[in-house]
Amino acid sequence: MSDKKATLKIDGIDEAIELPIHSGTLGPDVVDVGGLTARGMFTYDPGFVSTAACESQITFIDGGKGILLHRGYPIEQLAEESDYLETCYLLLYGELPSREQKEEFVSTVHKHTMVNEQLRTFFNGFRRDAHPMAIMCGVVGALSAFYHDSLEISDEQHRQVAAFRLIAKMPTLAAMSYKYSTGGPFMYPDNSLNYAENFLHMMFGNPCEPSNISPVLAKAMDRVFLLHADHEQNASTSTVRLAGSSGANPFACIAAGIAALWGPSHGGANEAVLEMLEEIGDISHIDSFVARAKDKDDPFRLMGFGHRVYKNFDPRAKVMKQAADEVLAELGIENDPLLDIAKRLEEIALHDDYFIEKKLYPNVDFYSGIILKAIGIPTSMFTVIFAVGRTVGWIAHWNEMISGSYRIGRPRQLYTGYTQRDFVTVDER
Ligand code: SDX
Repeated sequence: MSDKKATLKIDGIDEAIELPIHSGTLGPDVVDVGGLTARGMFTYDPGFVSTAACESQITFIDGGKGILLHRGYPIEQLAEESDYLETCYLLLYGELPSREQKEEFVSTVHKHTMVNEQLRTFFNGFRRDAHPMAIMCGVVGALSAFYHDSLEISDEQHRQVAAFRLIAKMPTLAAMSYKYSTGGPFMYPDNSLNYAENFLHMMFGNPCEPSNISPVLAKAMDRVFLLHADHEQNASTSTVRLAGSSGANPFACIAAGIAALWGPSHGGANEAVLEMLEEIGDISHIDSFVARAKDKDDPFRLMGFGHRVYKNFDPRAKVMKQAADEVLAELGIENDPLLDIAKRLEEIALHDDYFIEKKLYPNVDFYSGIILKAIGIPTSMFTVIFAVGRTVGWIAHWNEMISGSYRIGRPRQLYTGYTQRDFVTVDER
């Protein structure tokens, strides 16, 4: 914290208001506006564009420079040198694990990969063509009906068990939500495989023959999970924090995060990007779509472009673009038409005055779909993949809040409705 202050002079209030300013280790200072309520005033910041809702030590983003740090480590280095479960450990505990710590962490995750057999029948209530995100909202919320032994959020051990259960079971539930749509049998996890291999085994394996998991695809899958692991106070993480602030159990909070992620402005964008690239269909059509994105009267937006925080390249998009090239090359896919359209679209947009002036760059969702499609993941599962990767970030933020001092989140409003008036009977209306 700092001893700097902001002095606020408000028309109609004689005495200036002094507000403390707090400084973090990185990023902008914050003005603590808690004292305004006593003066009968609120701040007003729809969309929380200029609001720091909490203090956190997990992830730092510098939107102007395109920097993303997880516990101080740059995302580029983690994507190159680390793996998803090691990054999970880092996000949860604040330090990279020793070899022994990592082995124990991975082994504990393996102990929780299966789900209660009753959950298998739970799926039967859904139509076979249900969107997998709709299924995930339901089944993850339902986990709290199965784990009454780890719902005491004030108990660190309970929080730890819930964290392992969620990280371990999300891939199992995600694969089940896909298998259910195909009519194929659910696959049990195979704990001899690593996290990403196990997910691909449960997605594409069948009980009649051994799974033959491509190491190239498994590495790409692991990197996609890693790149989605956490991203500061985004909409779904803020949803998890707000739900958690009421004391709701961790499974309910993560289900709330999944619901918030689903929107096309957030995690639903990866599915929307693929649909947009397929709608564009050919490089010759790009200009008309860019024109639509610039037209104020057209609600169409270039999906996978723009970001509330990044006003420079999203560093994850750069890594994802490089990974897309590598995966397609290793798969021997010479020219993927959708990747060609994506690259040309990026080139055109980045040289267009509208996108330059509004600082719109490709975000994490722009290239992820290309990789997921190359791995064989159906488009409807793209946001589910995002949710699997982001679960550790949601849990890390939830745990950071619950293990510290917190109050229930309860924003106020600027009321512009009717002033008080008397009831009018129906005969008088
Ligand atoms: C994610 O917050 C996070 O960290 C999210 C995320 C994470 O890891 O959790 O990074 C994941 O959600 C990435 C974003 C995925 N969404 C999309 O790709 C959807 C397309 N992008 C936009 O809808 C938009 O850019 C947002 C939602 C991402 C950001 O919205 P903001 O910050 O509210 O910005 P805005 O809508 O106010 O846009 C500013 C201006 C507007 O023009 P003006 O009103 O000022 O004239 O830029 C324009 C917008 O019209 N604009 C776009 C655009 N994005 C913004 N114009 C065309 N195409 C776009 N994609």
